[in-house]
Amino acid sequence: MTTTERPGAEHWVPDAATLPELRRAAHECRGCELYRDATQLVFSSGRRGAPLMLVGEQPGDREDLEGRPFVGPAGRMLTSAINASGISPRDVYLTNAVKHFRFERRGKRRIHEKPGVAHVTACRPWLVAEFAAVDPRVIVCLGATAARAVLGREVRIGAERGRLLEPGPYATAPVVVTTHPSALLRIREEAERTSAFEAFVADLHLAASSR
Ligand code: URA
Ligand code: SF4
Repeated sequence: MTTTERPGAEHWVPDAATLPELRRAAHECRGCELYRDATQLVFSSGRRGAPLMLVGEQPGDREDLEGRPFVGPAGRMLTSAINASGISPRDVYLTNAVKHFRFERRGKRRIHEKPGVAHVTACRPWLVAEFAAVDPRVIVCLGATAARAVLGREVRIGAERGRLLEPGPYATAPVVVTTHPSALLRIREEAERTSAFEAFVADLHLAASSR
């Protein structure tokens, strides 16, 4: 497959599938070229019926190696925010807009590269199948890539956070958009980072109290 051939995940997504069936099938996906350089597919964690579905961007370096979402630095930040918002981890289903790690090699290092709109589109059928299989009450988009995947349009997080949004053409529940936890990690100034963390926790709390 050349880099421009992206048939999309449709062909690999089984109809009316349970979560274990989806997870198994996803490992075969060749819907875009990202499967070729990644170590493995990172599907999701969490259970059917979890009231909150949190959607990230794509697996990072650690997630790619471990095969589980949000186990690296951004995941630690997310875990502290979930704890601070009083949400039980049992009530959270964690997934990503794109299921394979996109990166650029620089010597021995692998540098995160944002997934493109075409990757988000190619991978969306998995997300749509997860909406049906998990049936969450509220869907939280962590950052603009997740918001594009879930809502199918460009979203400015600053302008649309802090309230419940209509599901749009793909989602099956109201949507809350917020920042990505890795954006918090990049803030150097402490007071600024604290207030960004508080705003993030407030968005999670809004989602949890709207379910
Ligand atoms: N960032 C994400 O968006 N998802 C992960 O799983 C890890 C880091
Ligand atoms: Fe399939 Fe998504 Fe992986 Fe592309 S990123 S191969 S669409 S699972």
